[in-house]
Amino acid sequence: MKVMSVFGTRPEAIKMAPLVKKLKEDPYFESVLCVTAQHREMLDQVLELFELTPDYDLNLMKPNQTLSMITAGVLTGMDEVLEKEKPDIVLVHGDTSTTFSAALSAFYHRIPVGHVEAGLRTYDLYSPFPEEANRVLTGHIASVHFAPTQRNRDNLIREGIDPAKITVTGNTVIDALLEVADKPYEFEDSVLAGIDFDAKRVIAVTCHRRENLGEYMHHIFEAIRDIAEEFDDVEVVYPVHMNPKVRRTAAEVFGDRPDIHLIEPLSYQPFVNLMAKSFFIITDSGGMQEEAPSLGKPVLVVRKETERPEALSAGTVKLAGVEREKIAAMARELLTDREAYDKMAKASNPYGDGTACEKILEALKWAGIQNRKS
Ligand code: UD1
Ligand code: UDP
Repeated sequence: MKVMSVFGTRPEAIKMAPLVKKLKEDPYFESVLCVTAQHREMLDQVLELFELTPDYDLNLMKPNQTLSMITAGVLTGMDEVLEKEKPDIVLVHGDTSTTFSAALSAFYHRIPVGHVEAGLRTYDLYSPFPEEANRVLTGHIASVHFAPTQRNRDNLIREGIDPAKITVTGNTVIDALLEVADKPYEFEDSVLAGIDFDAKRVIAVTCHRRENLGEYMHHIFEAIRDIAEEFDDVEVVYPVHMNPKVRRTAAEVFGDRPDIHLIEPLSYQPFVNLMAKSFFIITDSGGMQEEAPSLGKPVLVVRKETERPEALSAGTVKLAGVEREKIAAMARELLTDREAYDKMAKASNPYGDGTACEKILEALKWAGIQNRKS
């Protein structure tokens, strides 16, 4: 079976890397990797860590790109690649513009699509924007669906997707996490190497979502600054997303406070180690809501909603919203109330046990896409 995996951004790359490696190792599959490079530097960090060399690189990223630019670029770029390779199936991941556009392109070429990380929903088309729509649309183009959890499977069934085409696999992010988390690692980054993680309580921060850009991001960053001002033993480490709009707001609100370290995006291995050594995490990332329960680190999610309710149920993750006072109050509680902290700091694995890729390979074999096509 010729399987073409397509991804373009950092989170897709992290979550698809272990799957692409497994596809390459298994003689049943011929694996072709196409990256859109919707992200450039942040994608390359992941390719390097997991030692993946793409067969095709559409090299799309432009500074301040619009959604239409990405969509049009992927559609045009994929035409030639699909025409040449004629894969039996195209695998896409999650909810980015690359995901939806690559799925649409495969559909135009009448090539079946496998959707990895299928069935997550907020039921608000505008939040996360445009990811909720990307994921729904991809789900309705896909022929096979790899749902991380039973709840994700149920969401798809409610939308009329044939249950026989859905496999519950766990999330491949846990496969990726386990691959790097156990390896011994010393920070090379001078800022991280200089922090005394025993004496200080480190808050790891990331924030980049489109719907948070502007006013909400200001509120979120002001809350973090309030907390850094209030607690002498707190240090904030924030590897800032490369989106220039995010960088501008971070520089504006945080200035050059010595207890708030704005650093470049970290490669996955140092980042996992940062999360593991931190006291807690403040983020609007999707993937980190899945990783943190596994690491037993409390997470305050600075969003109004989440498509990952399993993490909320596990107790490790709380929705903190986007208001300055509320975020600061919830962070303050974690810093002052040991019982509240301990309740959240429990390792649990609602997203799987590191065998998601194996399950996806089995499901692909079982689906016999190749036979059905001919
Ligand atoms: C994209 C995804 C989002 C995902 C996020 C992960 C869409 C619509 N959004 O959002 O779902 O959560 O990636 O990070 O697909 N940039 C660089 N170098 C990089 C990466 C980004 O310079 O390696 C800058 C560029 O100026 C780029 C901008 O960031 O134009 C925004 O990137 P883009 O992929 O359009 O959106 P994200 O906000 O990163
Ligand atoms: N991550 C990373 N380096 C960083 C920040 C995040 O490797 O400096 C990882 C993080 O562990 C998670 C993924 O990148 O696996 C999340 O990516 P991002 O926040 O860009 O996207 P989202 O999860 O919101 O889609």
